[in-house]
Amino acid sequence: MNALDGDTRVNLRTDQPHAARMYDYLLGGRDHYAADGAAVERALAAFPMLRTAAQENRAFLGRAVRYLVREAGIRQFIDLGSGMPTSQNVHQIAQGIEARARVVYVDNDPIVLAFGGAMLAQDERTAVVRCDIREPGRLLGDPTLRACLDLTQPIGVLAVGVLHFVEDRDDPAGIVRTFAEAAAPGSHVVLSHATADLAHDPALGVQAAYREQGVPLTLRDSERFGALFGGLDLVEPGVETVSEWRPTVPRNERPDPAHVSWYGGVGRVP
Ligand SMILES: C[S@@+](CC[C@H](N)C(=O)[O-])C[C@H]1O[C@@H](n2cnc3c(N)ncnc32)[C@H](O)[C@@H]1O
Repeated sequence: MNALDGDTRVNLRTDQPHAARMYDYLLGGRDHYAADGAAVERALAAFPMLRTAAQENRAFLGRAVRYLVREAGIRQFIDLGSGMPTSQNVHQIAQGIEARARVVYVDNDPIVLAFGGAMLAQDERTAVVRCDIREPGRLLGDPTLRACLDLTQPIGVLAVGVLHFVEDRDDPAGIVRTFAEAAAPGSHVVLSHATADLAHDPALGVQAAYREQGVPLTLRDSERFGALFGGLDLVEPGVETVSEWRPTVPRNERPDPAHVSWYGGVGRVP
């Protein structure tokens, strides 16, 4: 059952832009409304390569999940701030390598559940939980998550393109730490995050466009991004622009890092 079938009282506030639907618009999806498109167009005016950034972030997510399944032996994932279903969701990537892989998708936007329930929660190996990642303790105790995942075994925690929506006062490093402390040794944490380090003014323009629309976007520099991993062991090559993290295409086919302006990295729970 998805949220629209089960609870017609869910208010999707289609008159206001939402991060999940704006990202869907950026990636060329179909699950967004006029307000989302208008908000993204403002951001694109400031940073015309924003679509490249979103696509490169999504490609990073795919490479990181493949790395976790193939090289780190991870068989279960929590995808925090999973967003709208897209062409290659985490379970499709992971199960394409290891059919028994399990994935719990988490987002606080009711529309993700409404649109994604059927597509993301297809069988007992996948589930969707509506929760705010700023309440990591509540999420870790969620019965749907507990029924799908075995937290005594290593997990992959993905917080890809979501911690820049968590303001400093909500302690993003503390959120990561809570998951890392609950995870078995050998678990991995995958993070990506927008930055103004590489294209200062355009990135600040995007931040202003998002904030004007009521979507709080916090840009962090490489040091503050790296600090989100806390005491985890960073997997090679460490913190990089997402397009430069274990790339699979030659340098001349990769975008200028300034056009990407998102950092990515993977940490291992010792
Ligand atoms: C830019 S999308 C990223 C989607 C996907 N992780 C990716 O990188 O392709 C960010 C998602 O995070 C969700 N989000 C933002 N703040 C959140 C929070 N506090 N708790 C849960 N989800 C959140 C938004 O609803 C949106 O779906």
